[in-house]
Amino acid sequence: MGAPKKLFIKTYGCQMNVYDSERIAEALAGGYEPTDRAEEADLILLNTCHIREKAAEKVYSEIGRLKRLKADRPDLRIGVAGCVAQAEGALMMERAPAIDLVVGPQSYHRLPELEARARAGERALHTEFDEDKFAALPKRQRKRAPTAFLTVQEGCDKFCAFCVVPYTRGAEVSRPVSRILDEAGRMADEGVREITLLGQNVNAYHGEDGGETRSLAWLIRRLAELRGLARIRYTTSHPNDMAQDLIEAHGDCDKLMPYLHLPVQSGSDRILKRMNRKHTAAQYVEIIDRLRRARPDLLLSGDFIVGFPEETEEDFRATLDLVERVGYGQSYSFRYSARPGTPAAEREDVAPEVADDRLQRLQALLARQQRRALEAMVGREAEVLIEKPGREAGQMVGKSEHLHAVHVETDVAPGTLLRVAVTGAAPHSLAGRPL
Ligand code: SAH
Ligand code: SF4
Ligand code: F3S
Repeated sequence: MGAPKKLFIKTYGCQMNVYDSERIAEALAGGYEPTDRAEEADLILLNTCHIREKAAEKVYSEIGRLKRLKADRPDLRIGVAGCVAQAEGALMMERAPAIDLVVGPQSYHRLPELEARARAGERALHTEFDEDKFAALPKRQRKRAPTAFLTVQEGCDKFCAFCVVPYTRGAEVSRPVSRILDEAGRMADEGVREITLLGQNVNAYHGEDGGETRSLAWLIRRLAELRGLARIRYTTSHPNDMAQDLIEAHGDCDKLMPYLHLPVQSGSDRILKRMNRKHTAAQYVEIIDRLRRARPDLLLSGDFIVGFPEETEEDFRATLDLVERVGYGQSYSFRYSARPGTPAAEREDVAPEVADDRLQRLQALLARQQRRALEAMVGREAEVLIEKPGREAGQMVGKSEHLHAVHVETDVAPGTLLRVAVTGAAPHSLAGRPL
């Protein structure tokens, strides 16, 4: 065997893709070592996102740029993975001749074979949903950052009217408990202090465990027993799967961090119904109230879509009201983007300038709430999991329990848990002094 070839992966979209990109690198580790420079790569893989039109279009413009590299380097192969690959793989190959390989999110264990075919000059495509990709992927020991993602559930059966995920990621599947415990145990041994459990609907987790079915709350409590592991988070959740045992875990499981991303999309019952979200605004607020009774300092994060087809000013005001009522410390808000193949794509869009205006108003409110949440921390204590050196000398940066980035004057190693006094708030982060 010669020297290993070089693999460059560019990741778009959600944390699931971040996790998958690591698995892709592992699957190809037999012949490739990672590089962060596309110019020196022998294989470039784009791990793509299809959630909004802009996200999908980015991939084609990136391929347009990358194909120039091929002129000087005939051995370079370009591949597309992830949700755009799944949604429009064959079409992509037609539209972009520079693509040598297309692989859907369920098939990363097939990458060595697909790569070999692409190397031999074939255009290789695989987007079937086949066996459990997690079981089939190889595992390797390596040096770890203090925080890691761990996918426990994938796919979605909810079919919200605007969303491509049920089509790109397939039906909801939970990984068995034993596999997750193995992987988490190995992560903890390799120095991981904080694990974020991932799933498109992670709180719908229902994993098999010796003939029993276990919930996410059960899994979190088991993981909390792992020595070395200090913190557990999970994302993304659907309000309808916010079970009582999970709410209780927020109250009494110390390692479960007081932060929850619980998308609501809209505060209007009429729009929620048209979105097929299957809950009302009042039911969502009631879940938040129960969570806050269990864990009063819980910091909430949400996703919002504005300009969903037929959204009126009154519907939009209901979203603003809900945001005022709940109070978010963090948020993601998007202008609705019609996605081919989804039911909402058939309906009439809100005028773009109206949607943009609403998005600005919503984002102004959410930004005020985020600033308030940061400012409320000043003068308080926080525990920071140190991750890496900060921008300035003598400074390290890490995350608080509430997932705020905190810059601390210290030289302790990554992976250290540090109690700090919060001394200041910037627009997106905090400053702290070790206690
Ligand atoms: N499973 C999660 C979110 C998955 S997608 C949930 O149930 O909420 C992440 C976010 O992208 C969504 O919460 C939604 O706010 C946004 N999104 C999804 N499809 C969209 C579309 N067609 N247009 C605009 N935003 C969209
Ligand atoms: Fe998409 Fe809805 Fe499933 Fe979330 S719950 S992934 S928004 S279909
Ligand atoms: Fe995007 Fe696929 Fe994630 S569409 S948000 S990368 S599940």
